[in-house]
Amino acid sequence: MNSGNQAASGKDCRRACRGEPRKLRTGFAAKLIEGVLDFKTMIDNETLPVEYLGGKPLCMNQYYQILSSCRIPGPKHDSIVNHARGKKRSPHISVVHNFQFFELDVYNSDGSPLIADQIFIQLEKIWNSSLQTNKEPIGILTTNHRNSWAKAYNNLIKDKTNKESVRSIEKSIFTVCLDAPMPRVSEDIYKSRVAAQMLHGGGSRWNSGNRWFDKTLQFIIAEDGSCGLVYEHAPSEGPPIVALLDHVVEYTKKPQLVKSPMIPLPMPKKLRFNITPEIKNDIEKAKQNLNIMVQDLDIKATVFHYFGKSFPKSEKLSPDAFIQLALQLAYYRMYGQPCATYESASLRMFHLGRTDTIRSASTSSLKFVEAMDKPNKQNQEKVDLLRKATQAHRQYTDMALTGNAIDRHLLGLKLQAIEDLVSMPELFMDTAYAVAMHFNLSTSQVPAKTDCVMCFGPVVPDGYGVCYNPMEEHINFAISAFNSCAETNAASLAHYLETALLDMRLLLQSTPKSKL
Ligand code: COA
Repeated sequence: MNSGNQAASGKDCRRACRGEPRKLRTGFAAKLIEGVLDFKTMIDNETLPVEYLGGKPLCMNQYYQILSSCRIPGPKHDSIVNHARGKKRSPHISVVHNFQFFELDVYNSDGSPLIADQIFIQLEKIWNSSLQTNKEPIGILTTNHRNSWAKAYNNLIKDKTNKESVRSIEKSIFTVCLDAPMPRVSEDIYKSRVAAQMLHGGGSRWNSGNRWFDKTLQFIIAEDGSCGLVYEHAPSEGPPIVALLDHVVEYTKKPQLVKSPMIPLPMPKKLRFNITPEIKNDIEKAKQNLNIMVQDLDIKATVFHYFGKSFPKSEKLSPDAFIQLALQLAYYRMYGQPCATYESASLRMFHLGRTDTIRSASTSSLKFVEAMDKPNKQNQEKVDLLRKATQAHRQYTDMALTGNAIDRHLLGLKLQAIEDLVSMPELFMDTAYAVAMHFNLSTSQVPAKTDCVMCFGPVVPDGYGVCYNPMEEHINFAISAFNSCAETNAASLAHYLETALLDMRLLLQSTPKSKL
């Protein structure tokens, strides 16, 4: 599994799948593919409306990186190939079912995209010709450590047929994964199980081989009708991916108006792989490695349903700052101390901008969390500290958004020192620097119109990954941790977070409304 993989889960086509589940699922997949192609037309024609943040236009480049691209493992470093433009432009997507990959052309000879009816017929052909379940899970190779995968990759593509198949996946516009059934679980852990399926596929016994994790964008359609996506993080941050997802979800709700022309389409091409004993050995090693990681990942996807961003707004507080402060309170209550906290801030106000870090643990947040549970402190004093801490967070956010945060600057200096082979400046050798970089809380807001949430893993062995999508009246969270760390527990943090949010609301409601 690439550490940079991020997944979104939430859109649920279970209702649509009642009746004839399998055909309705294929029908949904066809409509989804049509929706992505509709979005692609806007990318290709450069008609995507420019996005704004705080009245400032944002760089739209990431939108041009997410389709027809793939990460390629390399002996020294990986690279990204992009086949979106020019002669290399690809007319196909890849579809995987029962670990078997197919190349599916999604454009007619006149350049017009296939419509859902046509795609449905093609998906049915793929489905029916990949019913065997005993195939080698070739895609699982992409889950291995990058160095091991780079070696296995070179070995894999020595064979001409394998090379053609790999290139086809890499060039494809995106991948659609038609997943096999997952173990049934109770309703209370169902959301977390789906999040895990989207993020890593469940391990070698389940759907992890039904992926090509280097592919930038893979849509996953589960057997029970839930669906989501997993994306390789190198080419883009979450927001452009979620904007595409929002478009596709809306698109799938539209009725089908255009009828398919009844011109028969050729059978989608099956991508064949010759599995030598050496490749088989690489697959086995990748399986073992992946299963350890899957076992280790603890995910809790949860909905905080008491209020959404409308409550902090009604208190004239930034919802994002309010949620971040609740995270600080939750962590402090669990561990009796704060921790270095990372929140991603978009740098898209700048050309080709990616992210910088909002350091959510501040002296102001510490003052608030320390005061919050002290019975001798007046509520008004606590409210003042809460307001000051959220304002401090918002100020740091504005600083980060305008390129004035510290982390990418320091990272640049450190990498420059490494590249120039000079001795490492003392700052980077200091224990304080190591503590400041050990982000026990790695967090990110990825807002979406769709009722979904993204999820990703922690960045340190004793840490948490927290992603959230604040909706108007509720907040979707996905929290991750490692089972191998005795001190962390995703469900516990989720519980403390819920309590922190409720306590902060109660506190604000217990004092006269601010005139701020
Ligand atoms: N009073 C009332 N309303 C307020 C307010 C206040 N004091 N402060 C903010 N709000 C409103 C905003 O106007 C906004 O309204 P909207 O819902 O109508 O748009 C809403 O509350 C949300 O604002 P806020 O919670 O402050 O956050 P934000 O939307 O500005 O987002 C970041 C902050 C840091 C998340 C955002 O700037 C960012 O960088 N996002 C990208 C992060 C990213 O790339 N993540 C993915 C990494 S893979």
